[in-house]
Amino acid sequence: MPDGTPLTDDDTRNLRDAFGRFATGVCLVTTMGPEGPVGFTANSFSSVSLDPPLVLWSPARASRRFGVFVAAPHYAIHVLGLDQADWIPRFARTGEGFAGLDAPLNAEGVPTLRTALARFDCAAHATHDGGDHAILVGRVLRASFRDGEPLVFSQGRYGRFEG
Ligand SMILES: Cc1cc2nc3c(=O)[nH]c(=O)nc-3n(C[C@H](O)[C@H](O)[C@H](O)COP(=O)(O)O)c2cc1C
Repeated sequence: MPDGTPLTDDDTRNLRDAFGRFATGVCLVTTMGPEGPVGFTANSFSSVSLDPPLVLWSPARASRRFGVFVAAPHYAIHVLGLDQADWIPRFARTGEGFAGLDAPLNAEGVPTLRTALARFDCAAHATHDGGDHAILVGRVLRASFRDGEPLVFSQGRYGRFEG
């Protein structure tokens, strides 16, 4: 498409479908909001820097949870394992969130979920413009992981990595 041409609905569909060809993992980002624990399903996670240790993820400005995460001084990013797809709808629009889940607080008071494949406990480092999303860069205070298979997301479907 030529530079500067606004995206039509069809182009947006095309762009979404093209983005979806990039397989990712799935993360659950958690923080303590003013009204209690909040979670966000995100596949926009990326590692950024080893020294200092930095990661990023991008919440949509349209999300009801956007304000809580942009204001959060700390959050935890959980990388889901293959057997943890059932956590995804919990933290989508109409999910039950943390209800009934054991979510111990970390040293910064952020609710955490046990048994994630990897977890990055972060302090907010920078916020950048990302169009209809914001790009949140977090400084990793603590990283942990376990053995196991990752949950892979591509073209709207979840599956296993067969390398
Ligand atoms: C696998 C998966 C990955 C997602 N990744 C993102 C993401 O990186 N950024 C984002 O803003 N929304 C992402 N979403 C959508 C959000 O989790 C959320 O459902 C949506 O923003 C609605 O937000 P609201 O209920 O807070 O308004 C993803 C959803 C799924 C199922």
